[in-house]
Amino acid sequence: MDDRLNITMKPVIDILEERISLAMAQVTGLGPQPALVKPATDAKFGDYQANGVMAAAKKLKTNPRALAEKLVRQLELDDICMPPEIAGPGFINLRLKTDFLAGNLLEINADTAHLGISRTEKPKTIVVDFSCPNIAKQMHVGHLRSTIIGDSICKMLNFQGHNVIRQNHIGDWGTQFGMLIAYLKQTSPEIIEDPDSIHIADLEQFYKNAKARCDANEDFAALSRQEVVDLHEGSKETLNVWRHIVDESRKHYQPVYDVLEVNLHQDNERGESFYADRLAGIVDELKEKSIATESDGAICVFPKGFTNKEGEPLPFIIQKTDGAFLYATTDLAAIKFRITELNADKIIYVTDARQKLHFDMLFATAKLAGWVGENVELVHVTFGTVLGEDNRPLKTRSGENVKLKELLEEAVVRARAVVEGKNSELPDAEKEQIAKAVGIGAVKYADYSNNRTSDYVFSFDKMLAMEGNTAPYMQYAYARVKSIERKAAKKDVDVESELAGINDLNLTEPAELDLAKHLIRYGEIIESALADCRPNYLTQYLYELAQKFSGFYNACPVLAADKATRPTRLLLCDLTARTIRHGLSELLGIKVVRQM
Ligand code: ARG
Repeated sequence: MDDRLNITMKPVIDILEERISLAMAQVTGLGPQPALVKPATDAKFGDYQANGVMAAAKKLKTNPRALAEKLVRQLELDDICMPPEIAGPGFINLRLKTDFLAGNLLEINADTAHLGISRTEKPKTIVVDFSCPNIAKQMHVGHLRSTIIGDSICKMLNFQGHNVIRQNHIGDWGTQFGMLIAYLKQTSPEIIEDPDSIHIADLEQFYKNAKARCDANEDFAALSRQEVVDLHEGSKETLNVWRHIVDESRKHYQPVYDVLEVNLHQDNERGESFYADRLAGIVDELKEKSIATESDGAICVFPKGFTNKEGEPLPFIIQKTDGAFLYATTDLAAIKFRITELNADKIIYVTDARQKLHFDMLFATAKLAGWVGENVELVHVTFGTVLGEDNRPLKTRSGENVKLKELLEEAVVRARAVVEGKNSELPDAEKEQIAKAVGIGAVKYADYSNNRTSDYVFSFDKMLAMEGNTAPYMQYAYARVKSIERKAAKKDVDVESELAGINDLNLTEPAELDLAKHLIRYGEIIESALADCRPNYLTQYLYELAQKFSGFYNACPVLAADKATRPTRLLLCDLTARTIRHGLSELLGIKVVRQM
């Protein structure tokens, strides 16, 4: 068994793709051609379908149906599939053999920590830039998406064996610090003596007060601007106050990460301030390389292909007329640092779609600068807006951003009502624990399960519903499978010993086969979820798994099954539970519960 843990398991779909593609090379003489294997859309047609013949036939200017027939004669899939069938103009339908299915299921079962998720043969160093709150402002619901989508991308990449470097590019160097520091100095002069004495209980209020004073009082505004200059020039006193504001802010956002089960800590932070003393060098380098030029007093890059409505080249501004550096300059310094010093093979940025132009221009500029080696991949993962029930960006009644912390607290309160409704006899402490898992899980799951590029409407009622593709439904499905174990114990069925060393399965019922075929696709789903950075593929898969399990459980008695079938059915239950648990808790950071 230990040896097996080192095996890199390949999803069936990948084996089929490889084999058919190779056979296509032989029959077409064109070299390997994409076989385009996809899961079948309807079980009537089999389990998988290869659609590559049509494109190959087009290239050869030959009849696709005839080519498909030739290909099928050449194909060696005996060990995996029943004889392939040709349909329509040249689709090839594939149906798994039950023996193969059983063997594959047993292998996945033995692959305890990965459940068939393949480990990469070539681990890459992948930087993931996500969350990135702005210091001294509360995290709002807009930061939720970056934080949790980024976290699940990291979790999946880790499982594939990549070296993942999480980077929380916090906004800790902006001009807002001028007014914050000036405000603190005026309202609490004692902090100059002892910056440790700063306690910002209400960060939001503190920020608002400073902003109000700045807007109302020109002298104060001038003072604020001077503080920015002092900070950026490294004045000791100003830096001290700044550092304490950053530390105070962390006390506000770290608990949010912890509640969300997101793996971000102080050592993942490399904020904007980290790059401060590199910015001048970046501008110099780009000027020297004649990539950046002066335009109306500002220093700009004009990467090819970016124009405004009038067709004029768009500037990527890296230094303002007054000498100040910008968000773009910091991102240039960061991208260079990540490629040349962190040795990133790939950098993934997770932000809302409104920053698309910024990242497109950033990537273009970094390429112009010659920092992006041939094998370095830059990806911007975008997402849409969280909307209120009125279909406009989610805001509080008074029109302010909804604070993430308050939103999560409300979710737990509402989840508590769901738990009461479901199982009022549970002890209080347990109810509270379940309410936390369900409430936080519901908020996360609702976000994950929506296609990330669309906007979605935030609705507590929908996300806490026991029916449909929601966290409570999935958590309940898990608890239901686990309850079989408890029932087994009462009936003196020793699940552990029935499953120990199991090496033969007895799959016959349609519902068993349907569930088994879905279970072996877990690794495939993770691969496609990662290829597109779309966690909703995983939630959709888990939802279908829960439904298929229901179908199986309604059709096939488990504990009452005869000796020859019971171990197989127990294994299907066990693997379903482990797959749901793995998907929810290891990859999405959503807690499962044993009862609900
Ligand atoms: N702090 C920025 C914001 O709240 C997001 C930063 C994203 N990362 C980056 N490298 N620019 O909009």
